[in-house]
Amino acid sequence: MLSTEAPQVLSTEAPQVLSTEAPQVLSTGALKVPSTAGAQHRRCPAPQVPSTAGAQHRRCPAPQVPSTTGAQHRRCPAPKHRGCPAPEHRRCLGAEHRSTRGAQKLAGSAIPPDNTLMNVITIANRKGGVGKSTLAVNLASAFALSDWRVLLIDMDSQASATATLVGDLPDGAPSMAHVMLGSSTLADVITTSSRPGLHIAPAAKELTHAQLTIVSKPGRETILKRALRDITDHYDLVVIDTAPEQQLATVNSLVAASHVLMPFTPDPKALEGLRTTSEAVRELNDVELTQATVLGCVQIAYDRRLSVTEDAREQVAEAYGDKLLETVIRTNANFVVCPAWHHDIFALEEKERRKRGSEDFSALAHEVAQRLNSSRASVAA
Ligand SMILES: Nc1ncnc2c1ncn2[C@@H]1O[C@H](COP(=O)(O)OP(=O)(O)OP(=O)(O)O)[C@@H](O)[C@H]1O
Ligand SMILES: [Mg+2]
Repeated sequence: MLSTEAPQVLSTEAPQVLSTEAPQVLSTGALKVPSTAGAQHRRCPAPQVPSTAGAQHRRCPAPQVPSTTGAQHRRCPAPKHRGCPAPEHRRCLGAEHRSTRGAQKLAGSAIPPDNTLMNVITIANRKGGVGKSTLAVNLASAFALSDWRVLLIDMDSQASATATLVGDLPDGAPSMAHVMLGSSTLADVITTSSRPGLHIAPAAKELTHAQLTIVSKPGRETILKRALRDITDHYDLVVIDTAPEQQLATVNSLVAASHVLMPFTPDPKALEGLRTTSEAVRELNDVELTQATVLGCVQIAYDRRLSVTEDAREQVAEAYGDKLLETVIRTNANFVVCPAWHHDIFALEEKERRKRGSEDFSALAHEVAQRLNSSRASVAA
């Protein structure tokens, strides 16, 4: 059952300094991912690793901030419970930890998660570089900041989302490649991330080979959907990042989805990508592999000074009507540096005066939550 707890009130407190510990694989018997806070950071003239791209670290010769476990998990009275998705350990995601995090919450009134069904939002667009991974990471983080229990699944062998929230995995570390091959369960590969409350099932380059290995396996399109059954009770929201190609991992992501969210930029190819992605969703519905619906289209890198921005918006409004989300993600160079610092936009902008990216994603999460609620209400009616 999903949490029925009321979300906490909005807070403007600053987030705490992130831990420099390596993320821990949650499942028993799984490998620990070694710290990335190695040699590079020993060269850093700043003794402590700050939580954001602060002044000290701008001087650091190693641009990567090590991946983190989140300080709140170290305060858990039962170390073995750290972030474990097993039911008896769920208090590790509970109120005591929520109260230890004072970061930016969602803008506007807080949004409680629905407690009847886990939402699975797949982020997809066949065009590359339209902001899928940026959207997946920061939307998931925005919900985690609002105390939803969130899992981000990286289904792209480029592993951009993993790089942003965890860092590079060592060769052979548990990842979604193992889940696709059937050699690990989803719980085996889930790990903590630099965003407290947000868990991640990471990707690695081995995912490319894994997809080729299972190409003739019966049930190959439903591997992820079946894997998700084991963790249904542990998360309010699952966000899945996908690759640009319509490969088996992407098909699995669409099949596993309850909703599909499609980012677009003014590029005509990105608009074409909206069409091919929504067609793919329809075709998978037709053959009863999924019941996913398109939740909406989100405009990325919005710049109101450019006429192409408005032109693209008008075209999408015409083609998709109210599927076009009102919230836009404005052009913001901070998104480009997030992967190098292994932080989401909320951590990166924490000490900045202007928090444009954080504001955009808080607003987007709010609108997405409202859409999830209305989509559920219309299904129930
Ligand atoms: N709002 C934004 N403003 C400026 N740059 C952005 C914005 N959103 C994303 N970017 C940048 O655009 C580039 C592509 O973004 P991202 O990697 O999220 O796209 P993608 O669709 O996941 O790419 P791929 O298809 O290769 O997986 C990245 O460098 C990212 O930092
Ligand atoms: Mg990507």
